[in-house]
Amino acid sequence: MEFKHVPGMDDVLPADVGRWQALEREFRTTVESYGYAEVRTPVIESTHLFVRSMGETTDVVEKEMYSFSRSDEELTVRPEGTAGAVRAYVEHHVAAREPVSRWYYLGPMFRAERPQRGRLRQFHQAGCELFGDAGPTADAEMIDMLVGMLGRLGVAGVTVHLNSLGSGDTRARYRDALTAYLTPLADRLSETSRRRLAHNPLRVLDSKEEADRALVHGAPKLHDLFDDADRAHWTGLCAALDALGTPYVVDPTLVRGLDYYTRTLFEIRSTAGDLGAQNTLLGGGRYDGMVRSLGGPDAPGIGFAMGLERILLATPDSAPPRAPFAFVATLGERARHAGLVLSRSLRAAGARVELDARGTSLKSQLRRADSLGAALCLVLGDGEVDRRVVQVKDLAAHSQEELTLDAAPLAIAERLAARGTPQ
Ligand code: HAM
Repeated sequence: MEFKHVPGMDDVLPADVGRWQALEREFRTTVESYGYAEVRTPVIESTHLFVRSMGETTDVVEKEMYSFSRSDEELTVRPEGTAGAVRAYVEHHVAAREPVSRWYYLGPMFRAERPQRGRLRQFHQAGCELFGDAGPTADAEMIDMLVGMLGRLGVAGVTVHLNSLGSGDTRARYRDALTAYLTPLADRLSETSRRRLAHNPLRVLDSKEEADRALVHGAPKLHDLFDDADRAHWTGLCAALDALGTPYVVDPTLVRGLDYYTRTLFEIRSTAGDLGAQNTLLGGGRYDGMVRSLGGPDAPGIGFAMGLERILLATPDSAPPRAPFAFVATLGERARHAGLVLSRSLRAAGARVELDARGTSLKSQLRRADSLGAALCLVLGDGEVDRRVVQVKDLAAHSQEELTLDAAPLAIAERLAARGTPQ
């Protein structure tokens, strides 16, 4: 029997993992410089949490959750990170201790989708949630932070799509207005949109079907239903982005697929690389009613999540260089033991070291050091062990010198450090 990975749940082999780590490092460095601290919540939560927060009629909850029951518990492998973060924020009474909390997370999420390029069943998100600040300046700063980070990551052709849904009340009034407008036109809508009209009419707005788009064109505009506070938030957000000089496109059809959003919505898309249809790198928005709806105080929130697989598709496919290291080649049993001890001391001195203890010929060990890209190869045979020395070959300079075993760890760690990691 042949075992294969589950389609849409990919392995990341060591040769590729460097790109992931570099991306994760850039994300952590960026968000920590804005005051975010990491939170780790479980991968499994109660199914009810997702139904309650994301909404019963959203695509994710209706069709894409990996849910199961075990001993009377209804559980779901998380399809996203916001619900768990808000649950933890409420459960641990964080709002009572701090007026503003900035949290970030990184990790696998699971959705039962039909796999395609940039759309997986196990994918990875890096996201932030900011609790306790209802103002538009926070929204603008988050969006600008993301544009800056994508620039440093080398993602080209980036556009910020921006919209506002207004408050929960405005959204509810709009839902009624849209339903009243679309219902008489229902038989001209696509089948998907007809279904959405019944449960989640806002989703009709972001239909890609030509026929739907023509009808949606004449639909009432959400921004016309804004109350004064909605309008102030929206103009405040645009003004703050203008002050930062961060370009954006106002996209009134942007609704996003989750029920918890209020006011600000944004997505960042890219024309770069191999993204194809899955060109949304990240999405986010405000969810001012969610903390309360999960049993917490009246704390506002805003956040985003970006798909790491999609960012990797949109960035240059080059593995980041690794720090220089030493390869220890040994000949004979005694030399192998001396090599073990020397390698340990080298690592304690801060060097990266790989020991070859397979017992092959010196020639084959040197070839291996070369193919691994080692900076130095340290050779130990019985003669060296007797004299308590080691031969140090510089593989780039093709030079060789002898160091005592006592002096070697520090001297070699210093030499490797002096080379630095190639940029
Ligand atoms: P979302 O739009 O469902 O939002 O997902 C955010 C990002 O995750 C997407 O833009 C995409 O890059 C990535 N993503 C989603 N599904 C897949 C998939 N099947 N395969 C690969 N990548 C995928 C959320 O999840 C919200 N929790 C974001 C948020 C945080 N809103 C407020 N706070």
